[in-house]
Amino acid sequence: MKNFPFTFGIDVTSAQLEHYDNHIRRRLSSMVGYYSDQQAFARQLAKEDSLLYEVYETRRPEVAGELLNGLSVVHPGKVGDEYFMTKGHFHSVLETGEVYYCLKGEGAMVMETPEGDWSVEELRPGRVLYVPPRWAHRSVNIGANEDLVTFFVYPGHAGHDYGTIEKFGFRKLLVEREGKPQVIDNPRWRAQSV
Ligand code: 6PG
Ligand code: NI
Repeated sequence: MKNFPFTFGIDVTSAQLEHYDNHIRRRLSSMVGYYSDQQAFARQLAKEDSLLYEVYETRRPEVAGELLNGLSVVHPGKVGDEYFMTKGHFHSVLETGEVYYCLKGEGAMVMETPEGDWSVEELRPGRVLYVPPRWAHRSVNIGANEDLVTFFVYPGHAGHDYGTIEKFGFRKLLVEREGKPQVIDNPRWRAQSV
């Protein structure tokens, strides 16, 4: 990898980077256990293994000093009354933050710390979201028809801890109630035993 400055464009209409060398696709089948309504999940999966979200990245070494960056695209849809969302994660190195810039769509970031704080921040075009160190984060697309597109930047050595969220869930869920997004307590949330 040449260590020279470089530029690339973002085509917001097609929600793609002009240059990327990693493309992750997450389908419904990779989200077993993540959605609250497990019956709706099973019914939907029996019909179609839908594409829920994609990540386009420019690879960089995963070391301190580097800044990993790319485009996250969450497609519109719901499982039961819960909107399409990313798995969500803590960074393995908990003391690392992340910056998101929203380019397209309507969404929210659901966040929490191991200490019990939580926050849900709106994502819409032109808004920057700063996720401080220690905060787990999950993007949720609350739009009816449009992709939620964000550009993200985080430290090269951060790593991903998916296991904690997979096992315990987030404290809060974003669901649709009477046509509107609503933050509710996650009925299946479990406290991490210390
Ligand atoms: C990261 C970023 C971001 C995230 C995607 C997909 O740390 O890598 O938060 O790129 O990975 O939005 O979300 P999940 O990694 O939670 O599936
Ligand atoms: Ni992250």
